[in-house]
Amino acid sequence: MPSITVRNLDEDTKQALRERAARNGRSMEEEARLMLAATEGQSPPPLTAKPSTTEHEDAFSKADNRILLIIGGGIAAYKCLELIRHLKKKEMAVRVIMTRAAQEFITPLSLEALSHDKVLTNLFEREAEHDIGHIRLSREADLVVVAPATADLMAKMANGLADDLASTCLMASDKPILVVPAMNPAMWAHPATRRNVKTLEGDGIHFVGPNSGEMAESGEAGVGRMAEPLEIANAITGLLDSSPKPLAGRRAIVTSGPTHEPIDPVRYIANRSSGKQGHAIAEALGRAGAEVILVSGPVNIPDPKHAEIIHVQTAREMQKMVETALPADIAVMVAAVADWRSAETADEKMKKQDGKGPDSLALTENPDILKGLGHHHNRPQLLIGFAAETEKLEEHGRAKLKRKKADWILANDVSAENGVMGGDNNTIRLLSNKGVEAWPTMDKTEVAERLVERIVAHFETETVET
Ligand code: C5P
Repeated sequence: MPSITVRNLDEDTKQALRERAARNGRSMEEEARLMLAATEGQSPPPLTAKPSTTEHEDAFSKADNRILLIIGGGIAAYKCLELIRHLKKKEMAVRVIMTRAAQEFITPLSLEALSHDKVLTNLFEREAEHDIGHIRLSREADLVVVAPATADLMAKMANGLADDLASTCLMASDKPILVVPAMNPAMWAHPATRRNVKTLEGDGIHFVGPNSGEMAESGEAGVGRMAEPLEIANAITGLLDSSPKPLAGRRAIVTSGPTHEPIDPVRYIANRSSGKQGHAIAEALGRAGAEVILVSGPVNIPDPKHAEIIHVQTAREMQKMVETALPADIAVMVAAVADWRSAETADEKMKKQDGKGPDSLALTENPDILKGLGHHHNRPQLLIGFAAETEKLEEHGRAKLKRKKADWILANDVSAENGVMGGDNNTIRLLSNKGVEAWPTMDKTEVAERLVERIVAHFETETVET
């Protein structure tokens, strides 16, 4: 079978091969190998499984948060690799269009590897146009991001030029557009760019950056540096999430999950709490705009997206982290903290001794975190606890309200037959000094949302009263 060395090809052939390989989602070497195999009349060697454009398209169109990332030709284009990583971590789907100039700075291949999607480069790409079409491409995203937005790309946008795939999609889009400028400070300060920025702002285009600092060109500094990937990712999250933020400016601490209290290096005391309810409350508070610190015991569920999470093992670690996180406006203590821990923790695994029977385990009481907050000099303004009971729900709940100096107690029946511990549903009675509210059985995320509604209402009436 004949062979070629890609590096020895002339520039035009190399470019043609690069484009063809990118279109087919292969490396240049792989593409060349397949072309040669085809001319030899051989069947091509098996390819690594790659979804077809249609499969890609489906995955993208079904995703919750879809970003069309248009990469312009600037040295800062490399930052898009990290940006895609951040967006993927936030479970967003990313589809990339590169301008011709952008391909001088980074390769479609590396972007394909990160975005898990075909990178589009050419308006006149028959296959892509047939499968997706530039109009659909520009509409199917929830947000269009232009990064780096060069002076040239911004000038095109401001003047309605559409002569390549990137600028055509920008004109055809009916979605919010976030522009991330990156250019030399003199170009950013130039009257033409100033005019274009004003026009684009007037058109409702959003901006993040540019920042001030060192430029890639040696000796150049000033305003023009592209915003950092995390900053861009946060701006994207902010633009996608347009829900109201009634708890903006409020700080909340939430505890969740069980605690593990060690007996020796391999054994511990624990309980059946899954963390589902606490995590759902942290997420709902975060979505409502609160700054949330979630202190969680060991759980097997994903971290919430809208909270800062601190993982702990024991009740004492949990208490320390909760108190370190003070002051707070709101505290919701959901964790099923172990009431007792082993009075002593053995350094070595405790051995069974034949014929002697088990040693008795001496226990000692753990600190009560909720009660500690109730009596704290920095007591959160609204202190909420749970009361997991198997009998006399209201009576025990009321006693806890008083003893722990909480404002509200969410009492729930955790008898085994209800399947609350570890399950998805919960039936709550909200106890406060105003009385009792009985909620129907709901999914734990619905319980979280209803609780957040009550919290919002609490702060609203309080603002009206003061
Ligand atoms: O007393 P009991 O464990 O039933 O109280 C439950 C409430 O108190 C929950 O809100 C729980 O998070 C909190 N708690 C605590 N620290 C403990 C025990 C319970 O914060 N050591």
